[in-house]
Amino acid sequence: MEIVYLDNAASSWPKPPSVSKAMADTVDRFGANPGRGTHRMAVEAGKILFSTRRKLAQLFQIRNPNDIAFALNTTYALNMAILGYLKQGDHVVCTAVEHNAVRRPLERLKEAVDVTVTYVETLEDGSLNPADVKRSMMPNTKLVVINHSSNVLGSILPIEEIAEIAHVHGAKILVDAAQSAGILPIDVEKMGIDMLAFPGHKGLYGPQGTGGLYLHPDIELDPVITGGTGSQSESIQQPNVRPDRYESGTQNVPGIAGLGEGVDAVLHEKVQNIHNREWGYTQRMMEGLLRLSGLKVLGPALGQPRTGIVSFTADWIDSSELAYILDQHFGIAVRAGFHCSPLAHRTAKTEKTGAVRASVGMFTTDDEVDRFLEAMKQIHAAY
Ligand code: ALA
Repeated sequence: MEIVYLDNAASSWPKPPSVSKAMADTVDRFGANPGRGTHRMAVEAGKILFSTRRKLAQLFQIRNPNDIAFALNTTYALNMAILGYLKQGDHVVCTAVEHNAVRRPLERLKEAVDVTVTYVETLEDGSLNPADVKRSMMPNTKLVVINHSSNVLGSILPIEEIAEIAHVHGAKILVDAAQSAGILPIDVEKMGIDMLAFPGHKGLYGPQGTGGLYLHPDIELDPVITGGTGSQSESIQQPNVRPDRYESGTQNVPGIAGLGEGVDAVLHEKVQNIHNREWGYTQRMMEGLLRLSGLKVLGPALGQPRTGIVSFTADWIDSSELAYILDQHFGIAVRAGFHCSPLAHRTAKTEKTGAVRASVGMFTTDDEVDRFLEAMKQIHAAY
């Protein structure tokens, strides 16, 4: 049975074939340490990092590629930003659809250094009224952390408007692009983004263990990790130069080579085209699902903007059981449960049930959507 993969919001699959090829080539031919030697293999490894940085800069309209630091994943990048930026007594505004990757470091700072946090409520569908953010701003608000798109609801949050509010109040904005990098157009300058945390393994089609953090040139972080950078080795202080300041230790060169190929594929396809196609699939899925009695689709209504995520609950079956049947009997991969975002589930009033999440990607086909809907029809009929 051929797998229908509808778990792209967790990790995209499949990847463009060039991704694994670049990774294998890197291991086989350039498996040296970038920035740690002057021999030709080390130089080639360094070029791979720079080439991927440049492609990412092109994708997000970042002027200087060195303002991007590679990281293991979005969670790591968000921690770098949150723990590195906030100081004792600062206030932070975020929303009621944030992932635990934002909430847990913020709660940690609340305990440790008296950072205060306001969670701005969204509507049940995950949409945010910028006026509610404005009302939450305080004289000591230093940072607004905001999900570009909810990983549970698929709602799209108004980044430009929120950035403007943050800046008027003298705060900075950190955007969690876990569900939007490569999925929604992002222009850091136009949107006023000060920090952008993004994954490599979702909408950018790179391997797991890749991602990064863009930092506006005016932002200064305390590096969360310090150590060897291959530069200014005689100094006991972490260098100020970017990206070294935020990239201690040997980088994941094969992974970053793969990420570069993934970004190439996205640039070639164009983000707006990917988004339009994914939106079309979500609408077909929603139409099909909404024909089944007792089934509720979470997030924005039919016809409204959303990313490629369709989460739902059914009053005739438990979410985990449904995901299990889809996998075992139909070869369809979806995610069930709480998706590391209890806040979003509280917002959607599914904090007790969790939800099934089907998420499409650049390689999803009409036929796969049909197979999913047919499977859902059969399961519904059997219950
Ligand atoms: N945060 C990822 C998800 O939504 C892993 O599935």
